[in-house]
Amino acid sequence: MQISTTYQLPNTDFEISRMIFGCWAIVGGFNWGDQDERDSLQAIKTAYESGITTFDTAEAYGAGQSENLLAKALKGERKNIIIASKVGPQDFDKEGVIKACERGLKNLQSEYIDLYQLHWPNPAIPLEETLEAMEILKKQGKIRSYGVSNFGTQSLNIAKNAGFSLSSNQMAYNLLFRAIEFEILPHCVAEDVPILCYSPIMQGLLTGKFGNEEEVPDDRARTRHFTKERSQARHQDEGCEELTFETISKIKDLSGDLGIAMGALSLAWLLVQDGVAAVIAGGRNSSQVKRNLETLNVPITEDIVNELSAITLPLKEHLGPNSDLWQSDCRVI
Ligand SMILES: NC(=O)c1ccc[n+]([C@@H]2O[C@H](COP(=O)([O-])OP(=O)(O)OC[C@H]3O[C@@H](n4cnc5c(N)ncnc54)[C@H](OP(=O)(O)O)[C@@H]3O)[C@@H](O)[C@H]2O)c1
Repeated sequence: MQISTTYQLPNTDFEISRMIFGCWAIVGGFNWGDQDERDSLQAIKTAYESGITTFDTAEAYGAGQSENLLAKALKGERKNIIIASKVGPQDFDKEGVIKACERGLKNLQSEYIDLYQLHWPNPAIPLEETLEAMEILKKQGKIRSYGVSNFGTQSLNIAKNAGFSLSSNQMAYNLLFRAIEFEILPHCVAEDVPILCYSPIMQGLLTGKFGNEEEVPDDRARTRHFTKERSQARHQDEGCEELTFETISKIKDLSGDLGIAMGALSLAWLLVQDGVAAVIAGGRNSSQVKRNLETLNVPITEDIVNELSAITLPLKEHLGPNSDLWQSDCRVI
């Protein structure tokens, strides 16, 4: 199976790279801890110099700091890159979206954002109003296209029925979290709303760097794989640590047998799934970025894909269709 390197999103006139660099962890702080700015700038530069053209960021990442870092690292390269940024749900009223975009443009030192995404649904504000604001920004040339993130079928249907053309839906999707496969992924395939996968290596768990749940720091053990007793958890689930680490161990064994790094193998599995446009992988330094880029050369076959799917099926079934990584009361609607 061949992994293509670029993808044309619907309702856009540009291509994205299928490996997108995720600019969240590079700000450190919440979820990530200490981070050296020099490593962050170098990670972005390495990504760009190695052929990654597309960068995913958000105003929420370090209150504009992530957008700032991107502008600083790739000064002078604006026309050669694709920037995907996001507006947070607190700004979904018409004026809020427009102001948030203007702040984003300032942070990014750019006249436009290529793909502007609604970060999480906000049922308190009519989606039509929010998307109307996106249309205004598009007409003004401040954004080239718009997409959504963490949107379930109900919100996607509202957008469609109101006549708006989305370019993408950014969702948590990886071998240890296949919840979107129950309903959202088939819906997105049918409606031609390609998926951009976030946390595609499950925040490092799919590189095999953590041997058991105790080794996973509390802020990264907020997901529903871990017990609600973890200090940063915002869910009421019991967790499924044993099954999670059994699954990781099986993937690790397979990657060892194949002689393919576990992270790259996990990303390759995602890139051959129907409906997946790209993976958004984070990296805190150049070396991680380079290792993740090995994905594009992984000799993935149908047999390997099927084996990985079979290994991870019990965990998929255990966690079920709730596509919210962090909360039991699903915010993905
Ligand atoms: N739309 C949304 O709601 C949403 C939510 C989350 C993320 N995102 C986007 O998706 C991007 C990626 O998601 P993510 O950062 O949550 O998770 P991820 O890409 O699955 O994991 C990234 C983390 O894994 C570790 N890592 C990366 N490459 C590695 C390697 N080769 N070997 C060992 N460890 C490695 C690094 O952290 P350590 O070195 O600290 O282990 C890195 O920060 C974000 O940057 C953001 O753009 C969007």
